[in-house]
Amino acid sequence: MKNLVFALFLLPTATVGSAGLAFGEDSRQLATLPPPAQEALREEMRDNLVALNEVLSLMVAGKVKEAGEVAEAKLGVSAMGKHRSKPMDARPGPHMPPAMHGIGMDGHKAASEFAAVAKTGDRDKALALLPNLTSACVACHFSYRIR
Ligand code: HEC
Repeated sequence: MKNLVFALFLLPTATVGSAGLAFGEDSRQLATLPPPAQEALREEMRDNLVALNEVLSLMVAGKVKEAGEVAEAKLGVSAMGKHRSKPMDARPGPHMPPAMHGIGMDGHKAASEFAAVAKTGDRDKALALLPNLTSACVACHFSYRIR
């Protein structure tokens, strides 16, 4: 998690610093994934967004334990390894630069940390950890692209 917090801390500075170049320039690092792996990654990403929305909706509805269950199953450590049975060129993880892969793993761990607390039903504590669910999304999207 420390890396993520650090990356987010830098974010506002980086945004201001590059304001003059913001349009038309993409300074994110290109991660070269074979087309099937790109497709698998993007599909997983759309599922991530749906899962995140589900967790937020459940939190707002006061269904804190259920939010924890969804977070663990769909975003947490339990959601890792989904592509393991696919051919190598359709697995995103092995083609990522190690640092990018690390952000992904940190994100799964952060989701599980949120989930563990939410599953106790403690709304305030779960709310305090809620931003951790999106920290990895932001950190990775801000640093990497695949095309
Ligand atoms: C390890 C890096 C990484 C993490 C973590 C990550 N993403 Fe992504 N995401 C990507 C990359 C790379 C793309 C493709 C960008 C491109 O098109 O170049 C992407 C694309 C997407 C897309 C667009 C999918 C499409 O159809 O093109 C969505 C939506 C998305 N991510 C949501 C999320 C959400 C929500 C999270 C957090 C729960 C998340 N991502 C976490 C790397 C990541």
